[in-house]
Amino acid sequence: MVVFPVFVSAILASFVLAEPLLSPHVVHEKRARDPLGWSRTRRIDPDVILPMRFGLTQNNMDTIEDMLMDVSHPESPNYGKHWTAAKVVNHFAPSPATISAVKDWLHSEGIHSSRQRLSPSKIWVEVNASVAEVERLLKTEYHIWADNEGGERVGCHEYSIPEHMRDHIDIIKPTVHLTGRIANPSQLRKRQIKDSNHRLGSVNSGNGPKTNGQKPSTTLTLADCDQFITPVCLQALYNIHYRPLSTKRNTFGIVEFTPQAFLQPDLDMFFKNFSPSQVGQKPILVSIDGGVAQTTNTGFDFNGESDLDLEYAMALTNPQPITLLQTGDLVEGAGFDNWLDAVDASFCTFEGGDDPTQDGIYPDPLPGGFTGPESCGIIKPPHVVSISYGQDEVTITPKSAMRQCAEYAKIGMMGTTVLYSSGDNGVAGFGNVCLTSNGTEAVPPAGTRFNPTFPSGCPFVTSVGATQISPNKTVHDPESACEQVIFSGGGFSNIFGIPSYQKKAVAGFLKNHPPPYTAAQFNNSGTSRAFPDLSANGANYVVAIDGGFFLVFGTSASAPTTGSIITLINDARLTIGKGPVGFINPAIYSDLFRFAFNDITTGGNQGCGTPGFTATTGWDPVTGVGTPNFEKLLALWLLLP
Ligand SMILES: *[C@@H]1O[C@H](CO)[C@@H](O)[C@H](O)[C@H]1NC(C)=O
Ligand SMILES: *[C@@H]1O[C@H](CO)[C@@H](O)[C@H](O)[C@H]1NC(C)=O
Ligand SMILES: *[C@@H]1O[C@H](CO)[C@@H](O)[C@H](O)[C@H]1NC(C)=O
Ligand SMILES: *[C@@H]1O[C@H](CO)[C@@H](O)[C@H](O)[C@H]1NC(C)=O
Repeated sequence: MVVFPVFVSAILASFVLAEPLLSPHVVHEKRARDPLGWSRTRRIDPDVILPMRFGLTQNNMDTIEDMLMDVSHPESPNYGKHWTAAKVVNHFAPSPATISAVKDWLHSEGIHSSRQRLSPSKIWVEVNASVAEVERLLKTEYHIWADNEGGERVGCHEYSIPEHMRDHIDIIKPTVHLTGRIANPSQLRKRQIKDSNHRLGSVNSGNGPKTNGQKPSTTLTLADCDQFITPVCLQALYNIHYRPLSTKRNTFGIVEFTPQAFLQPDLDMFFKNFSPSQVGQKPILVSIDGGVAQTTNTGFDFNGESDLDLEYAMALTNPQPITLLQTGDLVEGAGFDNWLDAVDASFCTFEGGDDPTQDGIYPDPLPGGFTGPESCGIIKPPHVVSISYGQDEVTITPKSAMRQCAEYAKIGMMGTTVLYSSGDNGVAGFGNVCLTSNGTEAVPPAGTRFNPTFPSGCPFVTSVGATQISPNKTVHDPESACEQVIFSGGGFSNIFGIPSYQKKAVAGFLKNHPPPYTAAQFNNSGTSRAFPDLSANGANYVVAIDGGFFLVFGTSASAPTTGSIITLINDARLTIGKGPVGFINPAIYSDLFRFAFNDITTGGNQGCGTPGFTATTGWDPVTGVGTPNFEKLLALWLLLP
């Protein structure tokens, strides 16, 4: 037996104590493929400085669903007892142990604590570090990716961190998300511009409603609703007879991504025909990150979405003022994190912790860009927010998707209803693209796996699908899933597990109406988040756009219509001294609410070379729990505390 001298034992003992520092590196995030339109070009110089952001793990995230359910489930004793913003921040702020673990790790790796800065929200540690330092720290290689429009981004394919840091670090940027900004952009050969297809508001993004080109008549009656939807059709369909009383206290936000913009003459033209007392009414424009209702580019592709959303939201909730959350400047546009920053400040960092393949980074360094500071916590979240935009879930990394999704839970806990349209391509993604077995995107027949939508796949938003009044039917007949021009987005997430509120509904669907597909098409385990949650008419909307009337189709229409109904319910609750309904999913799936929806049992959402799913009795991944009956919902929601 070898007896060690005392000093050697002491060294061994100190190794044992310091053992966590020696834990092996494990892959933290990895990208399966390059984002569409981007390809890897060359290694980046080791002395280039990267503005690194370490996103700290937030505390109590394992309780976030329970906390949200606690204030949103109709049977919870705490129903409606929404949290203040300060309580949310405190509850989820990273623990002091996490903050010091990350700071100590960086310090021990040669990034002295004097170089580290903790963001005011305490959820990012920021460091300027050389590529050589970061490559050593994360055991990776940095490269430059280029798009086909001359843009360049810095990033890596995967990165690793010591095993004992895993629980403390959520995401690190710039890494696999191709956030790619460097401290001195002149160190890149070309200016960094965005691939226009990556901008939510871009005319090529696949967002935005569709038209069949038909020019509708404007002398319409209720008998014409199978061909032409106007506000009176929706009021008749969904039993809406209500005039708001608490408009000063109530709030209803519509999010638009620049360059999408409304035209006031379009609103007036619509009001003149369908809601004459509103001629001249404007939305309240809140400019987020330089957001402008631009009038330089006009036409269906630039004005269709905003005109549709505002004309219907304003007419259906008249005289409720509508808050227009106009997001992003003309150069960069914006992504979902940007409007979230504006209402809850969680994603804000000094130089962009957002996801620049989707989100604008402000201040914008490009010519003509927004020069002000990033819009961070500039308004309180409106009681209802309707967003008729989405992206394929596969285009965002799971960790980014989860981080954003948690923000929706937080604003739900604060009493906001967040409605996202479910997409217009049935079970396929934007541009009818589907997934291959290795997770890449491809049009059928190469792509056969269904391609779910984000944020609809986040369990903490309310996803809205589309229905139609079928030809020769009336507002008194049952609607069908929309099968004109568009198909209602619906399906099962590949990232998010199933939330408790929909377990029974989804299990019932899979058991009683098993779809004729295998796990090769969709996650059929019954353990993943399914969408949409509910639906509303999305066919044949008469909309004034760029000086003329168009017939418009899409879940883009269904979301603001649903948002209007929830806004009216909030008005009635506010009027009797109650609070807004907040996150509605636990209520709408409950037995109590089941009969307040019109179950949709016909039609499907074809895509990926298949008929898609089929609407049927009970919840289904085409039309959710069905379309709302305002009067019945109002009665139920007035009973709740
Ligand atoms: C990183 O460098 C930029 C540009 O010089 C500077 O503005 C920023 O404050 C630095 N950040 C940190 C955390 O030192
Ligand atoms: C993924 O699958 C598609 C279609 O089967 C194929 O074209 C592509 O090369 C594959 N990509 C990878 C990274 O394996
Ligand atoms: C609707 O009614 C019209 C006129 O009666 C008829 O020509 C048309 O075929 C009907 N359409 C459908 C889908 O039943
Ligand atoms: C299905 O979804 C669940 C929950 O997200 C997940 O655990 C499981 O791995 C998924 N199955 C497949 C085959 O992807």
